[in-house]
Amino acid sequence: MRDVAIIGVGLTKMGELWEQSMRDLYVEAALGAIDDSGVDHIDSMYVGCMSGGLFTGQEHIGPLMADYLGQNPIPSTRVESACASGGLALRMGLIDVASGMNDIVLVGGVEKMTDVDGDDATYALATASDQEWEAFNGVTFPGLYAMIAVAHMNKYGTTSEQMAAVAVKNHDNGSKNPNAQFPMKITVDAVLNSVMVADPLHILDCSPVTDGAAACILCPAEMAAKLTGKQPVKILGSGHATGTIALHDREDFTTLEAVKGAAGQAYEMSGKGPGDIDVCEVHDCFTIAEIAVTEDLGFFEKGKGGPAAADGATAIGGKIPINTSGGLKSKGHPVGASGVAQAVEIVKQLRGDADERQVEGAKVGMTQNMGGTGASSVVHIMEVL
Ligand code: COA
Repeated sequence: MRDVAIIGVGLTKMGELWEQSMRDLYVEAALGAIDDSGVDHIDSMYVGCMSGGLFTGQEHIGPLMADYLGQNPIPSTRVESACASGGLALRMGLIDVASGMNDIVLVGGVEKMTDVDGDDATYALATASDQEWEAFNGVTFPGLYAMIAVAHMNKYGTTSEQMAAVAVKNHDNGSKNPNAQFPMKITVDAVLNSVMVADPLHILDCSPVTDGAAACILCPAEMAAKLTGKQPVKILGSGHATGTIALHDREDFTTLEAVKGAAGQAYEMSGKGPGDIDVCEVHDCFTIAEIAVTEDLGFFEKGKGGPAAADGATAIGGKIPINTSGGLKSKGHPVGASGVAQAVEIVKQLRGDADERQVEGAKVGMTQNMGGTGASSVVHIMEVL
């Protein structure tokens, strides 16, 4: 296998973007990454997208994006793993370059979620759960994560205030990110007094519905320095694992086995452990998800993720800064793009280009992306070359 580096990144503004279609968003992010890398051609491309059909009526996303980017006839593959589609697209691009099949690969992710109303968006998102046992019976994603939250509270004493601290920290980070959908700072009281969506999750515990796209250019590490003036970032480790699609099939709602599995693979491949990670983007689709994931990645003992968030251990300047971009909560969550957007943030951090939200001296970074309630997860570990 060849070593692989990321040599360019691009990201659109996140939000309710009425002026741009799904293809416009993708092309904007892709051109940003191409420009950032300085490459003069692409050999193949991957597009993470969860549900072009239900959100916009558009499938056949791979060739559509190659066409609108002016890249016909290169191979272009759409990758779907619900909200982990972007992370999995990155892994597919990594495998493509590492195998020697292609040299310069564009990995993108896109979702245009706000062209449908709230009910239809909720329906589309619920297709990532078990349709027969969960969605058909009316449970929504906030409802499923609320069950995880209740289980975590009952088992470990996690509190609503600790979950709110995750949202406060992520909005604080997002206030320093010009691409964030909800950059306003909030307080624990504001979270606790915001509208209840699915008890115990308030609206300010939830990631929003978002339009947006993100992209990265990958190439062999040995070629990286010749192709770009920017600092290349090497992908040291990659992991991908699955877990039960339905919550009721899990022995324990509070542990995300796919996250543990994907992280274990990425740690082993990279030779790094949780203590080596300087900065990390995790899948905080709901505040309880960030708490459970930071435990399952090994940053904190099981049950200690809530107190760690409340004590500032996951803030910039804390033991392990989590979601410096603002995370899905504040930056926004265009589901098929989020995994790639996480990589964009980590590349910026490792290059020292994260401006006001820079983690001083960050050398090794991690991304953790998740589909459904943890039925799939993808983890990457990266280091500046
Ligand atoms: N955080 C902060 N503010 C939010 C928000 C969020 N997550 N979601 C909406 N808002 C704001 C809106 O901007 C709007 O503000 P305004 O009144 O000042 O204009 C207000 O809250 C109401 O927005 P609306 O779009 O009507 O909310 P909604 O009730 O239709 O949707 C949720 C709110 C939480 C149900 C929706 O964002 C949601 O489903 N989130 C979860 C998405 C999800 O499951 N993703 C996949 C996870 S794996």
